[in-house]
Amino acid sequence: MASQGQVVFWSTTMVIIILAAVIALIIGFGVSGKRSISVTALTSPGNIGQRGVLGCTFEPDIQMDSIAIRWAKAGVAGLVHEFKGGKDRLQEQDASFQGRTAVFAEQVIGGNASLELRDVQLSDAGTYRCSVTTAKGSGAAVLRYRTGAFSTPKVHVENSGSGDTLQCEAPRWFPRPTVHWTACSAAGEHLPHVANTSYELNAENITLKVVSLLHNITANATYTCVIENNIAKATGNVTVTDFSITRGTNVQLVSLQAESVSRSLPACHWMLLLPLYLLSI
Ligand SMILES: *[C@@H]1O[C@H](CO)[C@@H](O)[C@H](O)[C@H]1NC(C)=O
Ligand SMILES: *[C@@H]1O[C@H](CO)[C@@H](O)[C@H](O)[C@H]1NC(C)=O
Ligand SMILES: *[C@@H]1O[C@H](CO)[C@@H](O)[C@H](O)[C@H]1NC(C)=O
Ligand SMILES: *[C@@H]1O[C@H](CO)[C@@H](O)[C@H](O)[C@H]1NC(C)=O
Ligand SMILES: *[C@@H]1O[C@H](CO)[C@@H](O)[C@H](O)[C@H]1NC(C)=O
Ligand SMILES: *[C@@H]1O[C@H](CO)[C@@H](O)[C@H](O)[C@H]1NC(C)=O
Repeated sequence: MASQGQVVFWSTTMVIIILAAVIALIIGFGVSGKRSISVTALTSPGNIGQRGVLGCTFEPDIQMDSIAIRWAKAGVAGLVHEFKGGKDRLQEQDASFQGRTAVFAEQVIGGNASLELRDVQLSDAGTYRCSVTTAKGSGAAVLRYRTGAFSTPKVHVENSGSGDTLQCEAPRWFPRPTVHWTACSAAGEHLPHVANTSYELNAENITLKVVSLLHNITANATYTCVIENNIAKATGNVTVTDFSITRGTNVQLVSLQAESVSRSLPACHWMLLLPLYLLSI
């Protein structure tokens, strides 16, 4: 008797759960009219005056005609860019983005909704929304775009009266970066290093030219100049021996992953509704 009661209880529960799921699904579809598609956005910091890419991908769809991509920016009245039916639609574009934007048209079919932004301005920083509609449904993702300036340093040796000096020079940085040097000799010991760093405002009044001098260097050592701000970190190094000087440089953008990753969660809608239906039954 007890096991029969249990069977009845469980089958009733199953029926309720299945019914609730079906109702939730129907409501979920009804509310949005279409299914949600997954959209993901990701970007790295923009370098003033250069070309930037705001990354966005979506679940691909072979029907190009039905794909619509809209880029909008928080606090900007017009659109950043619109691409629909295989063509740019720029009637609603905000004047501040005129002539500077493009999507990668031939890659759209593969699920690439990324935006190319030319001549990046400091004021382009902000929150962007990438919305995509296809025959399968629609979705959106948000990203935070940061802007500044960064450049590769050049390191060279200067022979002055009082011993050799290393000069590390980078043409454009913003915000004002910190500069430090590391030095280690061929024997592996760390050498003392005191540098004299200066910043000079460039003609456009935003970016800074960075020059750092390291005096009294010794032979048989590798010196690395590290320039760093909140958007990028760059290094330049030289290995000085009695006979030769070898150089290397490297630039890396800071916290790529931390650059606000946001995705729409298509399943979320009705999964959240499900417990509510169970409660109300
Ligand atoms: C989209 O395509 C462009 C051009 O090939 C590429 O640079 C970019 O990385 C692509 N974006 C994504 C998110 O795949
Ligand atoms: C750093 O450079 C400035 C300008 O060239 C100079 O006036 C100053 O004495 C230097 N300081 C050191 C510690 O070398
Ligand atoms: C830069 O600033 C200086 C002084 O603040 C000003 O005289 C000059 O016109 C500015 N230059 C530009 C390109 O804005
Ligand atoms: C470099 O070293 C010499 C000799 O050790 C010293 O006299 C001089 O003050 C040093 N110069 C600097 C800029 O540290
Ligand atoms: C640097 O290394 C070379 C080869 O090992 C050696 O001949 C030379 O004396 C060293 N120079 C200094 C300043 O240590
Ligand atoms: C110097 O720079 C090159 C190029 O970035 C790098 O491969 C190398 O590891 C660096 N060397 C040191 C000692 O930092």
